[in-house]
Amino acid sequence: MQSHFIINDTPLSLYRYPISQSNRSLQAWDAADEYMLSYLEEQNLLNDDSNILVFNDSFGALSLNLLDWSTTVVSDSWVAHQGISENLTQNSLDAPKLTIADSLNPLPKATSIVLYKIPKSKALLTEQLIKIKETLQGNVTFIAAARAKDIHSSTLKVFEKYLGTTTTSLAVKKARLVFCQLDNQQQHSSPFPTIWPLENTNFHISNHANVFSREKLDLGARFFMEHLPKLHEDQTVIDLGCGNGVIGLTALSRQPKANITFVDESFMAIASAKENIEKNLPNGISQCQFTVNDCLSSFEANTADIVLCNPPFHQEQATTDHIAWQMLNDAHRVLKKGGELRMIGNRNLAYHIKLKRIFGGCKTIASNKKFVVLSARK
Ligand SMILES: C[S@@+](CC[C@H](N)C(=O)[O-])C[C@H]1O[C@@H](n2cnc3c(N)ncnc32)[C@H](O)[C@@H]1O
Repeated sequence: MQSHFIINDTPLSLYRYPISQSNRSLQAWDAADEYMLSYLEEQNLLNDDSNILVFNDSFGALSLNLLDWSTTVVSDSWVAHQGISENLTQNSLDAPKLTIADSLNPLPKATSIVLYKIPKSKALLTEQLIKIKETLQGNVTFIAAARAKDIHSSTLKVFEKYLGTTTTSLAVKKARLVFCQLDNQQQHSSPFPTIWPLENTNFHISNHANVFSREKLDLGARFFMEHLPKLHEDQTVIDLGCGNGVIGLTALSRQPKANITFVDESFMAIASAKENIEKNLPNGISQCQFTVNDCLSSFEANTADIVLCNPPFHQEQATTDHIAWQMLNDAHRVLKKGGELRMIGNRNLAYHIKLKRIFGGCKTIASNKKFVVLSARK
C-alpha cells in the first residue's frame, strides 16, 4: 500500500491504475505533486472562494488533496480518469466539488488557481497553454511542476511564449516549480490538429495534440499496414491502441464490410480516429465504433474475430511493459475461439515470448531490421 500525507495532514492511500499492473514499485505520485501542494499551503494561496483547475493529474495525488475547493481536473487520459475515481473510492472520499474533464472540453472560465503538471509531450503542453491563455485572463495564479530534469530551457520558453513572464523555484527533492503570469499580449492559435497525407492513398490523417505519430506515419505502422490480415465481410475487428486510427482506417478501406472498433486510452486519439473515418471513409462510419478504454477492460469475452495492435511501451514517464501484457491478455480474452491477434513490435521487445505464454504460440508474418509482425490465434 502506498500512502501519501499532505496539506491537511490527511493520509491518503494512492494507487497507480490499473491496480493489477505488475510493476508495483512505481509510485502513484511524485515529488512535483508534493512540492506543488506544500507550496500552496506555505503561501496560503487557497481561500473559500478558490476555483482550482488541475491539469494532467495522473492518479489523483493533486485533486484528492483539493476536495474542499471547487476543482476541475483535466486529463487526456482515460486511465487517469479511472485512477482518480478508483482512488476516491479506495479512500472512501466523496467529491461533490470535483469535476473530471477530458482534454477536449472547454475550460471553466471562473478559475483562480491553475496547477499544471507538465506533460511529457511538448505538443500537449503547447495545446493546453494556448487553451489556458485563450480562456483565462487577469488575476490567475499559475503554478506548474515537474521533475527538475524534465524542465529544460526550451520548456520554459514554451511557457514564456504562450502565457507570459515565467520564473522558477529552487529544486526540492529533484522537483521544480514554474510560475507564470498570463501577461503575454500576443495571442496564438493552436497548430492542432495537424494533418498529413497518408502515402499511396487519397486519405488525410488528422491528429489532435496528444496523438501518437502526429507529424507523419509511424515506421512501425507503415510496416504493419503492409502485413495486415485479409478480412472477410462482417468480421468484427478491434484496432487496439488506435491512435489516429490509421490501422483501422486502412483495414476498413480494404474490407468495407468489416465492423471496426477503435480503442484508445486518449480522448484526443479517439476524437482523431473518429474524424479520420468521417472525413476519409464517410460511408463506413456506421460500421465503426469509437471507445476510450484501458486496453479492452470493458469488452466482453469471445466477441471479436480480429484484434490489430501496435502496442505502446510506456505510461507517461514510466517505461513499463504492463500495458503490452494487458493488451495481449485482453486480446486473448476478447477474441472468439479461432480469432486472430495480429500485432507489430520492435524486434528487441520479444513479444513472441509473451504470445507463447498467453496464446501458446505465434507465427512470424514478416520482419525487417527493426520490426516484427506476429500472428497468434486463440
Ligand atoms: C504505438 S501507438 C499506436 C498508434 C496507432 N495504432 C499507430 O499504429 O499509429 C500505441 C497507442 O496505444 C495507446 N494506449 C496506451 N495505453 C493504452 C491503454 N492502457 N489502453 C488503450 N490504449 C492505450 C496510446 O495512446 C497510443 O495511441
